[in-house]
Amino acid sequence: MSDAPQHIVELRDVQLAFAEKKVLNGISLKVEPLDRLVIMGQSGSGKSTILRLILGILQPNAGEIFFKQFEISRLQRRKLQQVRSRIGMVYQYSALLSSRNVRDNIALPLEELTRKTRAEIDKIVDEKLELVGMQESKNQMPSELSGGMRKRVSLARALVMDPELILFDEPSAGLDPVISSVIDELIISLTERSKVTSVIVTHEMDSAFRIATRMAMLYQGEVIADAEPERLKKSDNPVVQQFLSGSTEGPILEGSKDAVATK
Ligand SMILES: Nc1ncnc2c1ncn2[C@@H]1O[C@H](COP(=O)(O)OP(=O)(O)OP(=O)(O)O)[C@@H](O)[C@H]1O
Ligand SMILES: [Mg+2]
Repeated sequence: MSDAPQHIVELRDVQLAFAEKKVLNGISLKVEPLDRLVIMGQSGSGKSTILRLILGILQPNAGEIFFKQFEISRLQRRKLQQVRSRIGMVYQYSALLSSRNVRDNIALPLEELTRKTRAEIDKIVDEKLELVGMQESKNQMPSELSGGMRKRVSLARALVMDPELILFDEPSAGLDPVISSVIDELIISLTERSKVTSVIVTHEMDSAFRIATRMAMLYQGEVIADAEPERLKKSDNPVVQQFLSGSTEGPILEGSKDAVATK
């Protein structure tokens, strides 16, 4: 395609509704190489939905979604699987398989998607565990790990195919403030060291400002702000300001009162 974008991810005028509920109302976003784009927005605003669209798990009703030159929603199954193997995903609740130990959880994508030998796989698993500081836990079961440790393991699993893009859904959900700072630092150091681009969904503002090279804010199905963190802080959009300050005064709750009143 002649106008194939040079970005890592591009959403063009994407619309998505579940039954009659419109979730995304024509959103456009670009993720450039090495960006750490933080997507913010209220609960239910469609943040996880955007990650699922990028992975091709969901299809948009209108608009286009590209990963590099590939238009995700037009790929055949096989090709989509190949493209997906270049994208790592860290799920909100880690999503490790409880019947497999740490080593086997991390090895799984390599076993399923490559022809590497056991020795080659073990070497990669060791490397990735070392990156997240979890070598000691290689033989433990997920149930024996704390939430922060599970998160690290799922980070190692997301890195195992050497992806070009990593998607993080609420990386610090359910973690204490200290551990969530540790995870933030890990996201920054891993993405810089491995030269990988990332999209991070969060509603923890401290975390967002620590991690982001760019921030986008979703509100009522639209991207109402998309800028570097310092510029976003200075935005004169009252919704952005209310979100950043966490205040109950402002348009956000007014909007939901209307929504309740019109139901
Ligand atoms: N498979 C689905 N079927 C029907 N509705 C859905 C589906 N997935 C998401 N939704 C709806 O779409 C909206 C956006 O959901 P999404 O999970 O993207 O929100 P979110 O911004 O990630 O919220 P949170 O911060 O609570 O995780 C919600 O209203 C949700 O109920
Ligand atoms: Mg979500």
